Amino acid sequence: MLLAHPTLHRSRANATLIDAARGVEGVTVHDLYDCYPDFDVDAEREQALLSAHPLIVLQFPFYWYSAPALVKQWMDLVLEFGWAYGPGGRALEGKTMLCALTTGGGEAAYQPDGVNRFTIPELLRPFEQTAHLCKLRWADPFVVHGVHRDDPQALLDAGRRYADRIRALSAEVSP
Ligand SMILES: Cc1cc2nc3c(=O)[nH]c(=O)nc-3n(C[C@H](O)[C@H](O)[C@H](O)COP(=O)(O)O)c2cc1C
Repeated sequence: MLLAHPTLHRSRANATLIDAARGVEGVTVHDLYDCYPDFDVDAEREQALLSAHPLIVLQFPFYWYSAPALVKQWMDLVLEFGWAYGPGGRALEGKTMLCALTTGGGEAAYQPDGVNRFTIPELLRPFEQTAHLCKLRWADPFVVHGVHRDDPQALLDAGRRYADRIRALSAEVSP
């Protein structure tokens, strides 16, 4: 699991989700901001980690209708031509990719008539297309909306659903 939160020590939603994910057997949590505070992503190390896992979960808080900046840097450096895509670029072929995100906005805000006008799947199109280009199977994103509400029980419930989802996807992808 790739976790990308620039201020995890202050997180409620992603901290709860990642705690739940850690409880799933076989999950490796890889905290990108902890490993690369200077954005100096080690592409070789990241490629080796990706190669070793059939299910790639990318978890992040939704920032400006996208992921925090280090995710972009990670993609730019790790998903290399000839490795992830292009001639001979088959390293990720057949793996599954799940985006898991938390949003401040409520579900109604992410509708055509809501303040954010677009749905989350629409806003995640660049991620979906990146997965497609890299021959990854795209799983329906796991989204927790309205996380600023002070509702610890709702977050714990979301954590349980998240762990169940990861378990189900892991069972699907295991050889
Ligand atoms: C820089 C920044 C940009 C944000 N952009 C969005 C956004 O585009 N849409 C949204 O619904 N929430 C947005 N938020 C709210 C975050 O998604 C929210 O704070 C986060 O999901 C909470 O998770 P955490 O408790 O793990 O920090 C933004 C927050 C920050 C700090």
